[in-house]
Amino acid sequence: MSKSPELGVCYYPEHWPEEMWITDAENMIKNGISWVRIAEFAWSRIEPSSGVFDWNWLDKIVDILGSNGLKIVMCTPTATPPKWLVDQMPDMVAIDENGQARKFGSRRHYSFSHIGYQKESQRITKAVAERYGQNNFVKAWQTDNEFGCHETTYSWCLSTLREFRIWLEKKYQNIDDLNKSWGNVFWSMEYRSFEEIELPNLTVTEANPSHNFDFRKFSSDQVKNFNYQQVKILNDYSPGRPISHNFMGHFTEFDHREICKDLNIAAWDSYPLGFLQNMQTIAREDKKLLEDCYNIGDPDFQSYHHDLYRGMGRLWIMEQQPGPVNWARYNPIPIAGAVRMWTWEAFAHDAEVVSYFRWRQAPFAQEQMHAGLMYRDNTPAIGSHEAMQVSNEIQMLNLPETQKSEIALLHDYEACWITELDGQTEDFHYTRLMIDFYKSVRVNGGSLDIVGKKADFTGYKLIIVPSFVHLETDTFKKMVSSGAKILAGPRTGIKNRNFQIPENLSLEGLGYKVKRVDALPYELPVEVEWKGQKGKLHVWREQGDSSGISEGKSEDGFPVITSGNQGSYLCGWPDEALLSSIMKEQMTMAGLKPITLPEYLRVRQRGDLLFFTNYGKKNVDIPDAFQGEILLGSKNMKQTDVTILKINK
Ligand code: GAL
Repeated sequence: MSKSPELGVCYYPEHWPEEMWITDAENMIKNGISWVRIAEFAWSRIEPSSGVFDWNWLDKIVDILGSNGLKIVMCTPTATPPKWLVDQMPDMVAIDENGQARKFGSRRHYSFSHIGYQKESQRITKAVAERYGQNNFVKAWQTDNEFGCHETTYSWCLSTLREFRIWLEKKYQNIDDLNKSWGNVFWSMEYRSFEEIELPNLTVTEANPSHNFDFRKFSSDQVKNFNYQQVKILNDYSPGRPISHNFMGHFTEFDHREICKDLNIAAWDSYPLGFLQNMQTIAREDKKLLEDCYNIGDPDFQSYHHDLYRGMGRLWIMEQQPGPVNWARYNPIPIAGAVRMWTWEAFAHDAEVVSYFRWRQAPFAQEQMHAGLMYRDNTPAIGSHEAMQVSNEIQMLNLPETQKSEIALLHDYEACWITELDGQTEDFHYTRLMIDFYKSVRVNGGSLDIVGKKADFTGYKLIIVPSFVHLETDTFKKMVSSGAKILAGPRTGIKNRNFQIPENLSLEGLGYKVKRVDALPYELPVEVEWKGQKGKLHVWREQGDSSGISEGKSEDGFPVITSGNQGSYLCGWPDEALLSSIMKEQMTMAGLKPITLPEYLRVRQRGDLLFFTNYGKKNVDIPDAFQGEILLGSKNMKQTDVTILKINK
């Protein structure tokens, strides 16, 4: 049996008078909170001026929280370097793509590549780790805060340029190899030495995509390096205490899998309503989803990210939306019950802790319109009642371990970058495509693991590759030899690892050779028919030669899906209904038993428990095909309900 999940909260004692601290701690306990995350933005209070430390207040609050029975997640405060430090090293700030400095006055004002700032980050990390590494109340760590937030993964500063050249030289060793790999003969872009290479910004037209691709890999490595420098210190001074970082939703600018190799906890910050709004602008507008779910969130977005991050480490939700937020284009109030449902949904996906952001609404500065569990006058907000309800419910249940799912979804950060750099259509959004495929399994009642290319594929019955541009033969062979059924989606295997078109155009074994691509606006899809069902391929559709069994046809005579001797290939991005039908058939062929769910009802299996959540406005019944003992909730579910069913396996 695994441990009971726990609740937590993000707390900023430095925002409140000391007289409130004891009552805050007591109220947290009364609310069923076990974990408190502190200090990630408190550098100016820890070290008010260079080398002058004030530990007094932090010692005091650590003691108050801990002696009241709360466990502390201590953070390194490096997301907010204080003014005196920026003045000491003005070139530590990042430079944007247009050459402008990203100044002091908010947060994350640093370049990952600045060696001076790296030293400062290690110095402050060491100071905090020395002070609290052995403190009995400090039970876990968080490095920095949301790496990459506010578009801070990339900096176009001189430190970056210097480090980029070193990185390239290490990778290619001689400049001819770099020229060849990037194809620099094209447009006379050849270099004679690594010192001649610039950053890929401010070019007249687009820079060479290979140049950009290496810059992305380099920038990702810089984040990994920055994190690792802190992790090493924390491990030295606080061995045995888990280290986390809080990642974000729909954020793909660095390779999280790589960074997680150095962490124990893969945490993420879940803001369902803000994310629903943002996806409308950055991915594709979906009026129906927006109207139906504006105050509850996309029924698949949260789960997708739980599955994504739990594939990289122990899953925590370090920040959970507790009420309206302040940063999306519109910021509605979550419907009553949503906070409880989101919390349960995280636990269904094996989260160990769900920690609400934040304890009390801030009366000042940037986030004063952002809810907390408490109002500014210290009375409980709705989120706090819902958190309390979950805390009582958790006590009544024993949650089993999560098992490996029968379905895997292959995800890859580099593949995402290639789809962005190779453009072709503005509407191809990698995360949107991943979630579309993910959803097509979920609407058929399936649970999935999201895995990277180095995963152990044995035991899966179905492996889905929504898109993996440079999927290579060795990874593909590993997948094939697992014996699973394979379904690859559009834009898979049509480039090599050097971002070039492979000699024989496509990966072999899927029955299709891609020759031409129709890269379309979402509104101009290609009409198709598959097994009597009419549908559309939108955004991306491929024309080529089929050598396997073809099914379905577009109006201009190309297949919808082909199957070779090693798997099937979808020659485009199908609309929701079509993808769901195709997935249902694939699941059946893989030996699974898909069950179509009512709209907006979702289920996730954890051990012998099924967790149902209803995101829809309509009351729905759990289909009869699901049988078992109800441990929480009921068979008829209204919006925001959670039902837990124990199945006999
Ligand atoms: C997160 C961030 C927090 C807070 C929160 C507001 O992205 O980590 O510090 O700003 O958003 O929703």
